[in-house]
Amino acid sequence: MKSVLITGGAGFIGSNFAHHALARRPDWSITVLDKLTYAGNPKNLCSLETNPRYRFVHGDIADPQVINSLFSKGLDMVFNFAAESHVDRSIECSNAFLRTDVYGVHTLLEAARRWPVYRFLQISTDEVYGSVRERAFREDAPVRPSNPYAASKAAAEALAHAYHATYGVPAIITRATNTYGPRQYPEKLIPLFITNALEGRPLPLYGNGDQIRDWLHVNDHCEALLHLVDHARTGDIYNIGAANERRNLDIAHLILEQLGQPVSLIRPVEDRPGHDRHYALDCAKLSALGWRAYIPFERGLRDTIAWYRHHPSWWGPLKSGAHAHYYQRQYGTEVFQPPDRLRGIR
Ligand code: NAD
Ligand code: TYD
Repeated sequence: MKSVLITGGAGFIGSNFAHHALARRPDWSITVLDKLTYAGNPKNLCSLETNPRYRFVHGDIADPQVINSLFSKGLDMVFNFAAESHVDRSIECSNAFLRTDVYGVHTLLEAARRWPVYRFLQISTDEVYGSVRERAFREDAPVRPSNPYAASKAAAEALAHAYHATYGVPAIITRATNTYGPRQYPEKLIPLFITNALEGRPLPLYGNGDQIRDWLHVNDHCEALLHLVDHARTGDIYNIGAANERRNLDIAHLILEQLGQPVSLIRPVEDRPGHDRHYALDCAKLSALGWRAYIPFERGLRDTIAWYRHHPSWWGPLKSGAHAHYYQRQYGTEVFQPPDRLRGIR
């Protein structure tokens, strides 16, 4: 049995990965470590509770005591998903981003230096490159993060790279594009717009909505990570993308169309500072290892909408309380105003 640590496994991608890995790898015994921040949800893991190959530990990746105790018992693989992950929150205040995304990763790497593992996957993001300049980024393009979240993830990558070069920690860095699917906290574009549309509330679109992201279904993301743990070279960086570039405005239209809601729900709001206009990746390096994304965006989005439609008890409570305060701070009162007060957009 291989002993596998999944940090941040109560969040969106980490919880999908825990389910995916337990189903696909019968010889893996998994420990999920999660601090259960606002983005971590025990409900994401409750169906695993009876699985003898799964256990949950409540803890912080930046706490050396917790981390050392897990590593000292012997680990084969580490998948580090734990992070503060929302750009807008990093713009509001970046302290927690530095603490978790940088110091937390340092704590994990120190433990991996002391108690060697077979593979250490640092789950990173295409945001480290910044906005596309001439062409889709290859892994050797310089990093130029535009917001504190992206900067904290770039710093974590630099640490992982340094610990590989200096101490031989078998780190692999993955840079995936925007990921969507079930169980994503309703603050990111797709789950926020789906749940707002389900409630008949406005969809706050930054700027004119012509920013472009490459959308990757979470199951494809998870499958790519399993592929990389088997085939990647340690010390290397791998882009993960689906070659599925869409404008934010078009995503908003698709969601409203599928839910039978009017386009008038789209509300342009003040743009995000430092907003990257376009992310796009060249994924030839990963393709050469025999991986590609399988889920077409229209199907993935339809299934994701269906999941949110059928799980109001999952996301409904998340949109009240602290989230409602965040929402008010982030979007102000503009999104609550009637559409005729706002400039139209098509
Ligand atoms: P998420 O915000 O949904 O989940 C993050 C999880 O980490 C939560 O369960 C939270 O409780 C936990 N966590 C936060 N701080 C912690 C700490 N100090 N110790 C232990 N646990 C902690 O994030 P996500 O969207 O699932 O992203 C997972 C990873 O993938 C992140 O590293 C992110 O940078 C990366 N990533 C995300 C995307 C995307 O589109 N969502 C794309 C590329 C890469
Ligand atoms: P987001 O889901 O926050 O991911 P990222 O910033 O990592 O790309 O945002 C995706 C795109 O959607 C990005 O261009 C910003 C835009 N956006 C909006 O227009 N309105 C919103 O309320 C949010 C959260 C994002």
